[in-house]
Amino acid sequence: MTDRYLVIGNPIAHSKSPQIHAQFAQQTGEAMVYERLLAPLDGFVGAVRDFIEHGGRGANVTLPFKLEAFALAEQRSERAQAAGAVNTLVFDHGRIVGDNTDGVGLVRDISINAGVAIAGKRVLLVGAGGAAQGVILPLLEQAPHSITLCNRTQSKAEELAQQFSHPALQASALDALGDVYDLVINATSAGLSGGLPPVPGTVFGADTFAYDMIYAAQATSFMQLAQSHGAQARDGLGMLVEQAAESFYLWRGVRPDTAPVYKSLRAQV
Ligand code: ATR
Repeated sequence: MTDRYLVIGNPIAHSKSPQIHAQFAQQTGEAMVYERLLAPLDGFVGAVRDFIEHGGRGANVTLPFKLEAFALAEQRSERAQAAGAVNTLVFDHGRIVGDNTDGVGLVRDISINAGVAIAGKRVLLVGAGGAAQGVILPLLEQAPHSITLCNRTQSKAEELAQQFSHPALQASALDALGDVYDLVINATSAGLSGGLPPVPGTVFGADTFAYDMIYAAQATSFMQLAQSHGAQARDGLGMLVEQAAESFYLWRGVRPDTAPVYKSLRAQV
């Protein structure tokens, strides 16, 4: 029987993961199928167990089930533990193993695809929800000079910084952000409704690299703000492809070539 994988979420129709993994499988010659599954909002665990019983080998998990996937996992990677959320499940001889590939996806897209080293850089991470939490450990592992966390609700940024308790990580009030940063990452969902995170334009300079974790056909509002201050900006489509590649690697032990997959997705966005 062909190895089965899927992405599970609610809603799920919009997910690009089946297309990405089909291209990875074709490219690497891996014999597998990858589907999408809409789970009822109160039916995540049942849907996963049913999939395992029917030969499922692994799953990607998207909104709103990443916390339930974390709870369901019997074993979790360090990066899943730090993220407090699981986006990749591996079904390994009856054991459910949870991982999180979002952070490494971001790091690879910035450091490899965009060619921007993170080591020694002053990083500003905007947002303090699940998306921000998911990328902190992999960013810290790149040894930046510092990571400053800021958020519309300041107390959440402070709590997140406390939780990691790392000397290079601190929270700041938005109105206390006086410096220009080397790397500014938008991990808020403000852009999904066309909005802007409440970050002052003064954080961007001509040498700043701005990264928006969401993606769109045109430059997002955040990217436009950064560009208006002379910064270079990139959206999160590459992160989507890279997190998928890391999941694929966890399941199959093979690293796909992400460049052609990114190119074909970009043409469709
Ligand atoms: P996610 O898992 O995508 O991070 P989340 O946990 O709901 O989702 O967090 C959303 C993040 O986007 C938070 O940092 C939120 O700020 P608050 O903590 O102040 O709510 C931020 N956010 C969402 N909409 C925003 C907006 N219109 N302006 C500024 N920040 C926004």
